[in-house]
Amino acid sequence: MKWSIRKFKEGDLKPIKAITVEGFVGVSLDHSLEQKLGGNFAGHDWRWRKARHIDDDLETNPEGIFVAEEEDGAVLGYISATIDREAGKGRIPNLAVASKARSQGIGRALIEHVLDYFRSEKLEYAVIETMESNPIGQTLYPQTGFQEIARQVHYAQRL
Ligand SMILES: CC(C)(COP(=O)(O)OP(=O)(O)OC[C@H]1O[C@@H](n2cnc3c(N)ncnc32)[C@H](O)[C@@H]1OP(=O)(O)O)[C@@H](O)C(=O)NCCC(=O)NCCS
Repeated sequence: MKWSIRKFKEGDLKPIKAITVEGFVGVSLDHSLEQKLGGNFAGHDWRWRKARHIDDDLETNPEGIFVAEEEDGAVLGYISATIDREAGKGRIPNLAVASKARSQGIGRALIEHVLDYFRSEKLEYAVIETMESNPIGQTLYPQTGFQEIARQVHYAQRL
């Protein structure tokens, strides 16, 4: 499979959201919350909630979304990045690769691409979070230079 990384363009949102809801089963806060508390909230399931994060990423920093594309133009994966210039900080809120395209180095290449983007923006550090239930994140992020800083505990209750 031949692929390359490019900037986000119109038309990417739908495939990116599809990759997101496919990829984040069992490895997203939204899914865990639904499993623990049970049922939908405000008529929406976790997939709707998770896909909505991509709208937020796009609104926050459209320049920071990059897409891995197959030769024929099919979207294989994406990464989103936000910038807090005053703090010198870059953050990667979302990253996913379609299951059929995994283990070919696309996820790693997307991370490296965004780290270069952060460097070109003269940022001084980068952050990314992963769920404890996600062994891939916990392997891939240290492999791409990230150091574990802390583990956070999330609480929720039904009202
Ligand atoms: C995380 C994700 C983007 C990685 O994409 P990818 O294109 O498969 O990643 P790469 O091929 O570049 O690297 C895969 C690396 O993951 C690690 N990995 C893969 N499967 C693993 C497993 N079961 N356990 C531990 N590590 C694993 C390996 O380190 C592997 O690198 P290697 O092939 O050099 O050994 C992809 O698995 C995905 O979309 N997952 C679902 C969504 C998700 O978890 N997103 C990140 C949220 S924090």
